[in-house]
Amino acid sequence: MHIFHTISGLREALQQHRKAGQRIGFVPTMGNLHDGHLALIHQARTTNDVVVCSIFVNALQFGLNEDWDKYPRTFDTDCEKLRGSACDYLFNPDEIEMYPNGLDTQSRVVCPTMTDILCGATRPGHFEGVTTVVSKLLNIVQPDEAVFGLKDYQQLAVVRRMIEDLCISVLITPAPIFRETDGLAMSSRNRYITEDERPNVTVLKTSLYEIADEILSGDRNFRRLEQSARERIEAHDFRADYVSIRQSKTLEIAAVDDTELTILGAMFTHGARLIDNLSIRLDNNAGLKEI
Ligand code: PAJ
Repeated sequence: MHIFHTISGLREALQQHRKAGQRIGFVPTMGNLHDGHLALIHQARTTNDVVVCSIFVNALQFGLNEDWDKYPRTFDTDCEKLRGSACDYLFNPDEIEMYPNGLDTQSRVVCPTMTDILCGATRPGHFEGVTTVVSKLLNIVQPDEAVFGLKDYQQLAVVRRMIEDLCISVLITPAPIFRETDGLAMSSRNRYITEDERPNVTVLKTSLYEIADEILSGDRNFRRLEQSARERIEAHDFRADYVSIRQSKTLEIAAVDDTELTILGAMFTHGARLIDNLSIRLDNNAGLKEI
């Protein structure tokens, strides 16, 4: 695996592959890699000749009171994991390489409306930081395909919308949520969960799946289903941020006759904010399908 810290170095290396007509797959990350990240890299490998992974903890997407300072930076172990994976190139720029004119005067990419809801309501400015860095990374790598995890469902929806709105020529591919054996979605932030809390945090996932079961059994009282899921989460002493049933593509509030639904939830433990989601399709009530 080749490691580049500069844009020019990476571009030069990728040029030879492009000239040879090879397909380039890309997996952007903030590092502290776990099996979920590695599954994305593996997936990118199945449809591309070359796989590029980036590690960049993007200050622009962290709010003032968020965990920018303590976000885990584990470059050496990340490199070891990547060497054992299907990754060919690691792009690991520093902040000056990515934002040479400083964060405050950096041009931004804004994707309105869709970024003001759900996680965006609790984390103002977060998605603007994501769309800005993702568009920069896509311009740097110019991949044929970029893989994003369904774990961050709203991020994936926002990136897809940005790609469409700005006519960026890249295929965006979703990857399934990778979970611990008890169902907790893997995340770099799971390390903030205390030992006492750990057995109970699966309530987020189970509450969302319970909503899915109720909908598939014919219950269309979405607001009541959301409310009872919030109560279930709070009964475990966590603070529910939101539980919401949305249209899968637009993330607008779902209507009773919508057929492609995504159930999203976020909750606070003492030290972490956890997110999860589940998508269902109601074609002829054919059954539960996680997409
Ligand atoms: P990060 O949180 O490191 O996640 C990188 C990618 O891994 C994202 O596409 C995310 O959805 C995916 N991912 C994380 N945990 C996953 C899991 N348990 N199962 C499946 N996929 C998972 O998301 C970011 O970084 C940043 O916002 C980024 C897109 C890199 C922009 O800075």
